[in-house]
Parts: sequence; structure tokens; C-alpha cells
Amino acid sequence: MDGIRTLYDWVRATRRSLFDYLEGWPVELYLRPLELLAGESVRDRHVHVAECYVTWLATVGLEEGSSPPSPGEVPDVRRARALFAEVDRLVERFLGRFEGELDRPLARSWRGERRELTPRWLLAHPITHEFHHKGQIVLAGRWLGRPAPDTDLLFPEEAAASPGPAPLGRGAAASPQVPAAARLRIAEAEGAAGRAWLAELWRQRWGGAVMVTRGRLHRLESLQAAIAYLDGEPAGAATWYVEEGECELVSLDAVRRGRGVGSALLAAVEEHARAAGCRRLWLVTSNDNLEALRFYQRRGYRIAAVHAGAVDAARRLKPAIPEVGDHGIPVRDEIELEKRLQETGASRE
Ligand SMILES: CC(C)(COP(=O)(O)OP(=O)(O)OC[C@H]1O[C@@H](n2cnc3c(N)ncnc32)[C@H](O)[C@@H]1OP(=O)(O)O)[C@@H](O)C(=O)NCCC(=O)NCCS
Repeated sequence: MDGIRTLYDWVRATRRSLFDYLEGWPVELYLRPLELLAGESVRDRHVHVAECYVTWLATVGLEEGSSPPSPGEVPDVRRARALFAEVDRLVERFLGRFEGELDRPLARSWRGERRELTPRWLLAHPITHEFHHKGQIVLAGRWLGRPAPDTDLLFPEEAAASPGPAPLGRGAAASPQVPAAARLRIAEAEGAAGRAWLAELWRQRWGGAVMVTRGRLHRLESLQAAIAYLDGEPAGAATWYVEEGECELVSLDAVRRGRGVGSALLAAVEEHARAAGCRRLWLVTSNDNLEALRFYQRRGYRIAAVHAGAVDAARRLKPAIPEVGDHGIPVRDEIELEKRLQETGASRE
């Protein structure tokens, strides 16, 4: 584990406490221009911090054409959390791109001047910048008569025990079943190699990149996707989408089973759903998939509905769905499972 990654995980833990605290504020206060912040709001400072990550990691480091976030896209704390979930994904992408070469000099142009920068510096700068602004936000809270809890001193065990999102780069470590040393990493699916691997996985597992759930046809390649890497090798994937405050997990596959891959992917999707403000994460599985029924129920999912005959109907849209599934069970029905996600601040504001 590289130190800068650990440091970022710690920063995320304090960021989470800060968001938890800010969710106790009326939204109007979060958006109010404050003299103490040179006429900007706490929301503006969050957007500015996110922008700093985008500038240094995406624009300068990865040399991507990227559009900075705008305050108008962040009307409340819930959206700020979602914005920082994007930042997390960017950091993960950045660390993946410069894995093993964090100290390699990179020649980059900054405001017309040539500079020699390293990936480690490029990430260290937005992290320290975030802490600088965190201090200002905490000060603004005190000034407004709403003192924040201590977000400065975070001992390592507290960071590890934080109920926040699974740490980047150690997705599965959040699961008690998985040895902390396991080299399991969850990353956004991207790049030609990642996409080709997914297409082959879906071909083998689901007869192609099309899935039918609740009578709706999904093209997996157009959904959000994450890949789990075990010891650097792709070992599983999940796809999902968010719609009207709900998240549907459309596919979840572990190539190497019983190693925590499925659990880590599920935790990552839950994290995305929470960050997107979803109240419910749901999925369907077929009546023969006893392994999946066991897996999800052990992880807090409940059967929300049984759609008798739904697979028979889905087969008309996707004839490749087999008639007989696991254990020789005829595949006929869809079982809908769900997990209610914690209410977020939006409902309290
Ligand atoms: C369902 C599925 C995704 C589970 O994935 P998985 O990677 O095997 O899941 P995990 O390894 O996280 O957990 C499986 C078991 O292994 C155990 N396990 C996890 N990590 C372990 C480790 N490091 N050492 C030993 N055991 C471990 C867990 O305790 C778990 O048992 P439990 O469910 O009784 O708690 C997988 O079986 C699969 O790909 N199925 C086919 C596709 C499918 O049906 N998907 C679901 C419908 S969309």
C-alpha cells in the first residue's frame, strides 16, 4: 500500500465526518455567502476543493480534457457527497494510471511555464488543499454558532473503523471475512482492455451484454460498471444504474469465487448508490440462483417481491436465457431483493 493512497483514505474519512456534520445544517446555511469566506458559501468551497482535484489530476496529470464542477450542480450536501464520489473515482483512476511510478518526473505546462512534477506531488497538493479548506469550513461553523466535531485528529484505527465508504484500493478490507492483506482492488471499468474483458465476461456468463430485468432490456456496456482486481488480475465485475432515487444492480459476477470479490463489488455499488442519494438498492435474480439468494440475504438484502413467470417473459426478449438453470431447476421467476439505504441529509434538512 503506497503512503499517499493511505493518506487519501484518511482524508476521505475526515471528509465523511465533515459531511455528516454539515447535513445537520439547514441547506440555506450551506449555500449562504459568508463574509468569513470572502463572500463564498461552504458549498462553494466544496466545489472549489473538488475542482482542485480535477485540475491537478485530470487536466494536468492525466492530460484529459475535463470540465470543472460548477456550484450550480451542487444544491445541497447530498450532491456534494456525490461530487466527491466522482473525485474518489478520479483519484482511483489516477493512481491506477501511475501505479509503481509515483515519483517519475512528468514534464507539464502550468500557466505557460514548463514544470517538472511527479504524480505524488500532483495528488499531495489537492489533499493538502482540501485540508486547508476543511479548516476554513470548521471555522465558519464555529462562527455561525454550530461548532463541528473534531475532524483534525484522526487516529489510524478510527479511520479504518470509519463506517464510511470502503477505502479506495482496499475495497474488500471493509468486509470482516476478507483478510486485510488480500490484494483486492475495485476500479471503475475503463480503457479498451477493461471493456474487452467485460465483454468476454458477459458473453461467458450471460450469453452477451444484454440483460432483461423486470421486463426491461439493459445493455450492460451502457451502464455504470466496476471491475474487481485480485492480485492485479480482473476477478469480477458489477453493473448498475441510478434512476428516480433508486439504484438497480443489474449484474454481479465473481470469476474467482469465495475470495471476497462479490462482497467488495456489492459494497462498492452500495457506496455509489448512497453517494447518489438513493433510498433503495435492488436487484433481481432468477429462482434457480440459490447461491445468489444466500449471498444477498447474508448481506442485509430482503426479498421484496417474487415475480412469477417473469423469466419466461424475459426469454421472449432474450431467447438465450436457458430453460433450466442451476441444480437442474427450471428458470421461470424473478426474485426481487432490496436493501434500504440510510436516509441521507436531504430528508433532514
Ligand atoms: C454471487 C456471487 C457474485 C458471489 O461472489 P463471491 O466473490 O463468491 O462472493 P464472496 O467471496 O464475497 O462471498 C462468498 C462467500 O465466500 C466467503 N469468503 C469471502 N472472502 C473469503 C476469504 N477471503 N476466504 C474465505 N472465504 C471467503 C464469504 O464468507 C462468503 O460466504 P457467505 O456468503 O456465507 O458469507 C458469485 O457467486 C457469482 O459470481 N455468481 C454468479 C453470478 C450471479 O449469480 N450473480 C448474482 C445475480 S446478479
